[in-house]
Amino acid sequence: MTDRAIEWLDGKVRILDQSKLPREQVLADLKDYGDVILAIKEMKVRGAPAVGVAAAYGMALGGLGITTTDVDEFLIQLNEVMQAFAVSRPTAVNLFRAIDRMKDCAKGDGINEIKSALVNEAKRIHQEEIAATEQVSQLGADLVKDGFTLLTHCNAGPLATAGRGTALGVIMAAKDQGKKVKVFVTETRPLLQGARLTTWELIQEGVPVTLITDSMAGYFMRRHEVDCVIVGADRIAANGDVANKIGTYSLAVLARENGIPFYVAAPVSSIDFSLSSGSEIPIEERSPEEVTHIQGVPIAPEGVKAANPAFDVTPYSYVTAIVTEKGIIRAPYGEGLMGIRLKSV
Ligand code: MRU
Repeated sequence: MTDRAIEWLDGKVRILDQSKLPREQVLADLKDYGDVILAIKEMKVRGAPAVGVAAAYGMALGGLGITTTDVDEFLIQLNEVMQAFAVSRPTAVNLFRAIDRMKDCAKGDGINEIKSALVNEAKRIHQEEIAATEQVSQLGADLVKDGFTLLTHCNAGPLATAGRGTALGVIMAAKDQGKKVKVFVTETRPLLQGARLTTWELIQEGVPVTLITDSMAGYFMRRHEVDCVIVGADRIAANGDVANKIGTYSLAVLARENGIPFYVAAPVSSIDFSLSSGSEIPIEERSPEEVTHIQGVPIAPEGVKAANPAFDVTPYSYVTAIVTEKGIIRAPYGEGLMGIRLKSV
């Protein structure tokens, strides 16, 4: 099922609803672009590359649904569709890359031609993510030694990428190379992507998994039970600062304190070359209810104040290496990422 994260079925987008996993495996058909936006906001589809792919298909759906016969009016309405996606989730840059690409491709002699261009570009974005995450996985596997125990946070597997996965792709590729690996998975409060999704994906791959609460990571690191930490990214600034799921920064600091390598695996589509540092990355603030409740069940006194930043920024100085499909980069990140940028144009 993990390879069915997102599918384009002429005229609709089918997703594996991540909000219901692992208890229920539900394929949801999204028939118009509003359904796709809602699925992104409600995290039925989530993970930076997967959000980009879903949004691209959603914009194609939005274009197909426009009925005007006037090209200028069509482009105005298409722009409105794209604006609606732009405010769905702010942190993952893949969404904004997808919007830029869909905007650029919306050209042609007539409306039908533009509609075809939109569908083809969305399919291309998806195929490119599949290829990129495959390459990230293969390259990153070299960092993993036989017998390693890795620790990962949130979910950076096939579900999150609509491809092979990034951090989990690396782990799975290392296993495919015959290396014996084990993984600590942090549950990842508040929405439990680690407990619900990462464990589910790794179990299906036959990788030994130990689920821990977020607060247990330091305990196991200090006992020398973790050989490296590997996570994905939602946005990487040009200096190598990494925005990822809330709690990533704490893990990076703990890894440094305990002399453990801290790796980030991400496709180039997650790098935002326009931002000079992580302080410019917009951090999504989600509903306090996700903190005061677990899967709809209240766990705190009614009315208590709660904060819910969904991401944090890990400064580049804590990052041992960034694995991209164009190569593994180490400090100085400014230069390394610039090299990646030049290879990508
Ligand atoms: O809020 P989410 O679940 O979309 O956050 C996802 C993450 O933080 C992932 O680690 C990140 O998107 C990497 S995806 C390969």
